[in-house]
Amino acid sequence: MSTEQDQRVTETLASLTRAEDTDALEAIRIEALGKKGWITQLMKTLGKMSPDERQVEAPRIQAIRARVAEAIEDRKAALEAAELERRLASETLDLTLPAPQAPGGSVHPVSQVMDELAEIFADLGFSVASGPEIEDDWHNFTALNMAETHPARAMHDTFYFPDVDAEGRRMLLRTHTSPVQIRSLVERGAPIRIIAPGRVYRSDSDATHTPMFHQVEGLVIDKGIHLGHLKWTLETFLKAFFERDDIVLRLRPSYFPFTEPSVEVDVGWKDEGGRRVLGGDGDAPGHGWMELLGSGMVNRRVLEFAGVDPDEYQGFAWGLGVDRLAMLKYGMDDLRAFFDGDDRWLAHYGFSPFDQPTLSGGVGAKSTVGAKA
Ligand code: DAH
Repeated sequence: MSTEQDQRVTETLASLTRAEDTDALEAIRIEALGKKGWITQLMKTLGKMSPDERQVEAPRIQAIRARVAEAIEDRKAALEAAELERRLASETLDLTLPAPQAPGGSVHPVSQVMDELAEIFADLGFSVASGPEIEDDWHNFTALNMAETHPARAMHDTFYFPDVDAEGRRMLLRTHTSPVQIRSLVERGAPIRIIAPGRVYRSDSDATHTPMFHQVEGLVIDKGIHLGHLKWTLETFLKAFFERDDIVLRLRPSYFPFTEPSVEVDVGWKDEGGRRVLGGDGDAPGHGWMELLGSGMVNRRVLEFAGVDPDEYQGFAWGLGVDRLAMLKYGMDDLRAFFDGDDRWLAHYGFSPFDQPTLSGGVGAKSTVGAKA
């Protein structure tokens, strides 16, 4: 019996040295130590032995089991080491090759332009303010001198909610960033210098209108502020934003309920190789004016609504389409593509997150993500 077992041990050890991979190894392990393996069966015979017999046989069978188990482990370690050796020999790493480019996201042109605006206006002493996109009709309309029956309310194609707030005000998706003027003045008082970029909503949709779009509001309230400050501020901003010195503005009389006087600000453009580019006097031959933003001196009534004394403080405000600015600067022509979420569009028009807009480095990004290779 024991010679027969010794024989099996010898055979098992011999087959281990011939096992060339872990599959072969596993087969041998199952045959010896698996549930139905011969060593396992041998262990079971111990239960049927007399105590005397078991005392002799148990250590011997345990020794067989230990020896085979150890041999399997040794062979496994050897096979793994050999495998590693093989891989080290076959795989070489050429450190002179360029590293593969990890897939990366890009900064959306709207975010990029908002960063550019924040950077430029920070340099002019403005901080960035924000307000809720779900507004009430007092902040969105009434406090901006648009009474319940004011015809301008109807012009805004407002998305209303069925609810009213605790004070009985109708809730809506803000139609412009102008309510941030009110919230900032109520919270911080005058003097104040803020821009408020953000999303606004109107029930409107075609190639140049989407139900959600972006505006940036500006507000300056201080003592002795006049229209000249307004013009200088916008001119300085537009020169920095479009990175050209020949930006010319034209202030055209207009009407907004929240400003008096109100002006529409136009920018001169010229033809450069068949393309309209901003810059130059719009009245020169072959040139023209492009309407860019709404602006004006803040209406006294708005200051009163916001708790500011209009005899002490005055100032100006403007509202400007951020998407439109991005289109003008970076040359996209369909507004709807901005919000389609198409990766190819983003790869083409998006910006590298590493190119932060700075006044010293140039607010327009140096390289776009899509421009690789
Ligand atoms: N809120 C206006 C709109 O959405 C834009 C605007 C015009 C804002 C004149 C202003 C302003 O602050 O002074 O159409």
